[in-house]
This record gives sequence, structure tokens and C-alpha cells, in this order.
Amino acid sequence: MKVTVIGTGYVGLVTGACLSEMGNDVVCLDVNADKIRVLNEGDIPIYEPGLKEIVQRNVGAGRLKFTTDAEQACSHGTIMFIAVGTPPDEDGSADLQYVVSAARDIGRRMTDYKVVVDKSTVPVGTADRVRAAILEELANRGVSVPFAVASNPEFLKEGAAVEDFMRPDRIIVGADDEQAIFLMRALYAPFVRNHDRMLVMDVRSAELTKYAANAMLATRISFMNELANLAETVGADIESVRVGIGSDARIGYSFLYAGCGYGGSCFPKDVKALVKTASEHGRELQVLTAVERANEAQKRVLAEKVKRRFGEDLRGKHFALWGLAFKPDTDDMRDAPSRELVMELVEAGATVGAHDPVAMEESRRVFAGLGGVSYAPTPLAACEGADALIVVTEWKAFRSPDFAAIRTQLRQAVIFDGRNVFGAELPRRHGFEYHGIGRC
Ligand SMILES: NC(=O)c1ccc[n+]([C@@H]2O[C@H](COP(=O)([O-])OP(=O)(O)OC[C@H]3O[C@@H](n4cnc5c(N)ncnc54)[C@H](O)[C@@H]3O)[C@@H](O)[C@H]2O)c1
Repeated sequence: MKVTVIGTGYVGLVTGACLSEMGNDVVCLDVNADKIRVLNEGDIPIYEPGLKEIVQRNVGAGRLKFTTDAEQACSHGTIMFIAVGTPPDEDGSADLQYVVSAARDIGRRMTDYKVVVDKSTVPVGTADRVRAAILEELANRGVSVPFAVASNPEFLKEGAAVEDFMRPDRIIVGADDEQAIFLMRALYAPFVRNHDRMLVMDVRSAELTKYAANAMLATRISFMNELANLAETVGADIESVRVGIGSDARIGYSFLYAGCGYGGSCFPKDVKALVKTASEHGRELQVLTAVERANEAQKRVLAEKVKRRFGEDLRGKHFALWGLAFKPDTDDMRDAPSRELVMELVEAGATVGAHDPVAMEESRRVFAGLGGVSYAPTPLAACEGADALIVVTEWKAFRSPDFAAIRTQLRQAVIFDGRNVFGAELPRRHGFEYHGIGRC
């Protein structure tokens, strides 16, 4: 099948690469010329396990092309995925300017039947806006070309994106056009050969399903974080509580970890956008409003613990920071808890020596111009001369460290474990003062 993917970020690039891996003929379009240059040079602009190999293989086979040329991209695909960013606007709503602009790009150029597929996470009603934008452009050209608009929200997780796309739990397709549904079924059939996992529904339900999924997951995290804070106050251990409730089949173990808040490019913005969608329709989502408030507070918990231990004035203090990415296996730092923590520590006069297996380059960009942040080539090197070690991201490589070696590097044997990766016992046995989240 001929497929065009507009936007080659985390979602668009994975979508394009995985569809080409199944034999489709894919053109990926992006307005960011640097990204396209990097991709055409055989590299990939993001860190995502397994992706580079797939991209290189399919570029080599001539099934995957990258371009900034909208003309070329729009004439290519019968199926046109829109996978551009939908960042939060100032009021929390999803900013749809990139989606609408991609739709206009299509409307300005299409000459034959297209299925335009919203893969970006977009509020309920966006498919109607996309349809209207395309119709307007067609009217400007004085032509009538048949097309359908479908919703196909993406559920991949950064860090496991290729695996998720290749073996999805489900594929949601919102569409009311028979031809569009037929083409989407055909496109995804190779991904669900084992058993059909495509759920076809109306467009608005598909759009809402994506937000509902992220909102549910965010809710579980904020719920556990609030209980963790309570556990600290009452002398309970959130890890025991987690195992205790996770064993209930109705609850399950996933997404029940307490920590220093959720971040990333999806949960924070999607929760905000859903709350905003509701308020635009005269509804208040009380649970989700609280979920977001709890998360904002949780992102400050590590800095508060540090200040409680070392005082409000952190001048002269130096901290080792393990983890900058919002979660392991990605270099994505959008809304990462590390950002808030670093800012607070530096504002209070401290300096930070950070290590992250893949996000240090991104971090240099994020904290460009901010003094007081340095980078270490290894986790151990980051500890040199630090007053405490702070763990912000639960990378596997951090989970079983050489505590004896860490002690020799730190100025004071203090650990703040923002992801409860160590557990209290082991560090304490090595003579560390240990501060976890919700641990007694
Ligand atoms: N990142 C994730 O884990 C994830 C998972 C599921 C869904 N989503 C959703 O998918 C969408 C994309 O997310 P992302 O993380 O891939 O974003 P991203 O910021 O990494 O990539 C978006 C890309 O779109 C490009 N772009 C913007 N306007 C364009 C236009 N008119 N024409 C061509 N290219 C254009 C940008 O240059 C950028 O490269 C968002 O709605 C997001 O919420 C993201």
C-alpha cells in the first residue's frame, strides 16, 4: 500500500518505519529540514530501541523515504497519516495548528481518493475540523475529490515503541466510511495475524478512547503517589501496599509505582487537554483535575526532601543526579520531573552533576544557558564530590549499583531515591541515609 506519514517524531517515524517493514511503500514528510537531513543520512534523530535498524533496512530496500517536499508526500499515499505534535496551548487545550496545517497541505494538493488518518492525540471533534480544513482547500481550488477522515490513535510507549507498534494490544480505528475501514483493516492485517485486535468504532469514541487510556494511567500514578506521601506520614511502606493491592486481579500490578511524578510528552498534556475539553462542554472532570494537581505537587517532592535534609539555602552543595529522561529507554525530556528538580536545586544555589544513559545531549539543549549543571560519563563519576545521590529515572543500569564504590565518591552518604529502585534495606546496610518515596 502507498502510505504517507506527516510528522516524523516519535510516533510518525515509528509508524512509517513499521509500516514499511511490512512491505508498504512509505513516504515520511516533516517540516523540520534538520530531521529529514539526519534521516536521509541514515541516522535517526531520536533514541528508540530497534528503530534505527528498521529504518536503515527499509530505506535500503527503497520502501521508506523521507522528504520535506509536501508535493511529493501528498501525491504519494492513499492513506495519509497525520502524526504531528499536539502540544498544550496556554489554556491547557491541545494546540491543533499543526494538525490543521497538515490537513490543509493535503487539501491543497490531493487529486485522488485519500483516507486521512488522525494518528496524533487529538480532542473529540478534531476529525470534523480536519475534514472542514480539507474541504475548504478543495473549494479554494474549485475541485471535488473524494476522501475520508479516520481516527487511529497511537498507544505506543516510548522506549518500547517498535515492539508496541509491531505487536499492539489493540488497534483503534474510528471511521464511518466503508472504504476507509476496508483499507485500514488491510493495512493493519499483518500486525494482528495471530488474532484480530482491531476495534472499529465511531470517530468520536476513538478520539476519546486515547485520552481515556492516558487519563486512567495517570490516575493510577497520582493515586499511588498520594498514598505514598500518606504512607510516609503514618509509618507505612508503599511498596508493601503496592504488592498488597496489585495482587487483586481487579487492580493488577501495572502502573502502581509511587515516584516523583509522571512526565513525558503525553500524560501531562493529555490530562490537561481532557479536562479542558470537558470544561468547554460544561463538564468538570473532578478526578482528573485532582490527578493533575497531585502530579504537579509530586514533581516537587524530591526537591522538598533535599531541602528538608540540607536546608533551603543550597549554596555550596553539589548533587549527583541519575536520570534526566522522563522514563527509561528514551531521550525524551518533555515535562520530565528532572527538569523541575534541577531548576529548583540550581535556584537554591546548588550545583548538579548528572548522568543519563541517553538523554544527556537532550539535557544540554534543555538546560542550555543554565549554569551549575555538568554531565558525567558514568553514574559513578556523577557521584564524585556530591553531597547526595538523587535518582530520578529508573534506568535498569541504575538498579544494582556498587554501593561501596558510590560511598567512596560521595561527600555524604545520602540517597534520595525518587523511583524506589533500590529499596531501603540495601543502601542502609551500606551505611547510607536512604530517602525513598513512601518508604518507612
Ligand atoms: N510520543 C509518544 O509516546 C506518543 C504516543 C502516543 C501518541 N502520541 C501523540 O502523537 C502525536 C505526535 O507525538 P510525537 O511525540 O511523535 O511528536 P514529536 O514532536 O516528536 O513530532 C512531531 C513532528 O511533526 C512535525 N510537524 C509539525 N507540523 C508539521 C507539518 N505541518 N507537516 C509535517 N511535519 C510537521 C514536527 O516537525 C515534528 O518532527 C502527538 O499528538 C502525541 O500526543 C505520542
